[in-house]
Amino acid sequence: MSKKRILSGMRPTGAMHIGHYFGALKNWVNLQDTYETFYMVADWHAMTTVYDETHNIPQNTIQMLKDWIACGISPQKSVIFRQSDVPEHTELFLILSMITPLGWLLRCPTYKEQLREIKNHDINTYGFLGYPVLQAADILIYKAEVVPVGEDQVPHLELTREIARRFNSLYGKFFPEPQAILTKSPKLLGFDGRKMSKSYGNALDLTDDEKTILKKIKQMITDPSRIHTTDKGHPEVCSVYQYWKALDEKETEIATLCREAKIGCVECKKRLAVKISKFLKPFQEKRKKITETQIKEILDEGKEKASAIAKKTISELREILKI
Ligand code: TRP
Ligand code: SF4
Repeated sequence: MSKKRILSGMRPTGAMHIGHYFGALKNWVNLQDTYETFYMVADWHAMTTVYDETHNIPQNTIQMLKDWIACGISPQKSVIFRQSDVPEHTELFLILSMITPLGWLLRCPTYKEQLREIKNHDINTYGFLGYPVLQAADILIYKAEVVPVGEDQVPHLELTREIARRFNSLYGKFFPEPQAILTKSPKLLGFDGRKMSKSYGNALDLTDDEKTILKKIKQMITDPSRIHTTDKGHPEVCSVYQYWKALDEKETEIATLCREAKIGCVECKKRLAVKISKFLKPFQEKRKKITETQIKEILDEGKEKASAIAKKTISELREILKI
């Protein structure tokens, strides 16, 4: 039986943090064996918000890809490519934009939220409104059936399915309706207690050393009811404990020590820093050896493979649309 095809992507935001790893990359790595996987650097998507700072995109792409490869995304198993290397995405984006009702985009919850949240760039643009249409084109051009994403991307997947359905009802069945698969991993918060994000400056980077990790973890808020070391703790409400859980799903030792007040938060954090640092070592060793030239070769190869499929879809579409 042939493997189902997966497509997923990330905007090139530069070096990855531990939230990217547990929230997406770990899953992407595992999926490589059971699916035909396409992993894309969404540089045009980055441009929808940072159109006035595009000069950072090439370096951010290289740094992000080094992390992907060091984490185990394999050029032998996956097609790793950059969105803008396959211009057919834009042709499909245009075609899909013709059939996408404005109301669907205006109502999209991520659109409304981002308009409120993003203050440093004026994103009141035609391109930003069309963000989910471009994402639909990314997926549908490969007729991908499965899309691993985080919770925040679910509305975009829903829109992709609606756009596919609308296309199929207008011109006959052509696109599959892709399914989202969600990563089930504990939500790792940044060390200030907010969502982990590079732009908040609160992330644990995959390239951090033990000292830096400890410095960051020390700032984390623990179980608020544990004022003295002798107070019994509640690991389930402690964001430090979420990290223990992420590193080891079956973790119970720390939880028990915490509940019985046999470990203090300072000690718990110290041990965690050691554990994270050990966990990241092999990744960091591997990352150091990856060169920019290797990344460029991987992108060239990915471009060839992705283009072959994208070109075929476009020629089929032109046939269907008589245009
Ligand atoms: N919008 C996604 C994000 O911000 C990135 C993305 C672009 C993507 N195209 C995609 C994800 C296609 C999955 C499929 O994370
Ligand atoms: Fe959190 Fe660890 Fe303190 Fe328990 S001992 S509250 S798990 S930091």
